[in-house]
Amino acid sequence: MNALEQIHTLQLEVSPQYSRTLRTRMDACTPEEVALLEEVAGMILKIAGKDLRSYCEGYNWICDAFLREELEFRRSGEYRLKTFADAFAQVYDRPEVMVPYMRGLLMTQLWWPNHTSALHYLRHSFLPTLPDGYSFLEIGPGHGLLLSFPANDPRCASLEAWDISESSLTETKDCLHRIGVHRDVRLRKKDLYEAASGTDQFDGILFSEVLEHLEDPKGALRALREALTPSGKLLIHVPLNSPAPDHLFNPESDTKLLDLVSSCGFNIESSAFYPQHGFSLEQAVANKLTISALVVARKNDADL
Ligand SMILES: C[S@@+](CC[C@H](N)C(=O)[O-])C[C@H]1O[C@@H](n2cnc3c(N)ncnc32)[C@H](O)[C@@H]1O
Repeated sequence: MNALEQIHTLQLEVSPQYSRTLRTRMDACTPEEVALLEEVAGMILKIAGKDLRSYCEGYNWICDAFLREELEFRRSGEYRLKTFADAFAQVYDRPEVMVPYMRGLLMTQLWWPNHTSALHYLRHSFLPTLPDGYSFLEIGPGHGLLLSFPANDPRCASLEAWDISESSLTETKDCLHRIGVHRDVRLRKKDLYEAASGTDQFDGILFSEVLEHLEDPKGALRALREALTPSGKLLIHVPLNSPAPDHLFNPESDTKLLDLVSSCGFNIESSAFYPQHGFSLEQAVANKLTISALVVARKNDADL
C-alpha cells in the first residue's frame, strides 16, 4: 500500500462519519493532485510516526470544531472571538486543544482540496519565481510542513521562521527533523510585528493561515512590508468566511482582501481564490462560504 492509501484507509476507519467526503475527495483528484498528495502523505507518515491514529483523530476534532463554529457564524454573520486574549485563553494556552488542532490541520493538507491547492500554489507558482539563492522567511510555521518546501529547494540559500508559540516552534523543528531536512534553518521565537524594524530582509516571505488570527491585520501587513528586500515578494494565504475556534479577522471577499493588501503599500502581482465546496467564487462570496485566498504582493513606494 502506498503512503496515501495507507493514511486514507486509517482515516476512513477513524472517521466513518466523514467517509462520504473522504471518498469523494479521492475520486475527484487529478493525477497531478494525486502525485502531490502522495508526496505529502509520505511526509505525514514520517512526521506522525507511530502516532498516526491520533493525527487522524485530530482531523475529527478539527471537522467537529469547525462545524460548531460554522453554525454560530451562520446565526451571527461574525466570528465568535474578537480578541487575541480570548483566543489565547481558549486555544493557544490549552495543550488539550492545541495538539488535536495542529494535528488535524496537518491532515487537512490532504483532505481539504483548498488546502492542497494552496500547497500546490506555494510549490509551483511562488517558489519558482524567487531569484536563485533566495532568502526565505515563514511567519507562523506551526506544524512545519510548508517550510519543508523551500527547505528542500536547492535554489533557496537561507531559511528562517518566526513564531510566537514555543510549542509551534518545537513542532516545526520536529517536523523538519523527521522529514530529513539537514540544512540550517533558523527558528526564532519572534512576533511578526517586530518585522517593522526592518533589520532583517528576505526575498520571499510566506504568511500562511496567520492573518485571520490577528487583531491588527493592517499593522501586520505593514510590518511585513519592511521585512522584504526591494524586489521581495510576500505570499499571503488566508481563508475568507472561515469560522474557527481562534479566528478573529474575516477579510470576507476577494475584493476587500485585495484592497486591504493594496492599502498597506503593496502592488498585487497575482492572486488565486479556491472556494471550499466546489462553488464558484461569486457564489461563495455571496453566501459567505469558505474560500482559501492566495495573494502575491510586492511592496511599492507608497508613503504610509
Ligand atoms: C494556524 S497556524 C498556521 C500553520 C501553517 N503556517 C499553515 O499555513 O498551515 C498559525 C501559526 O501562527 C502563529 N502566530 C500567531 N500569531 C503570531 C504572531 N503575531 N507572530 C508570529 N507567529 C504568530 C501561531 O503560533 C501558529 O503557529
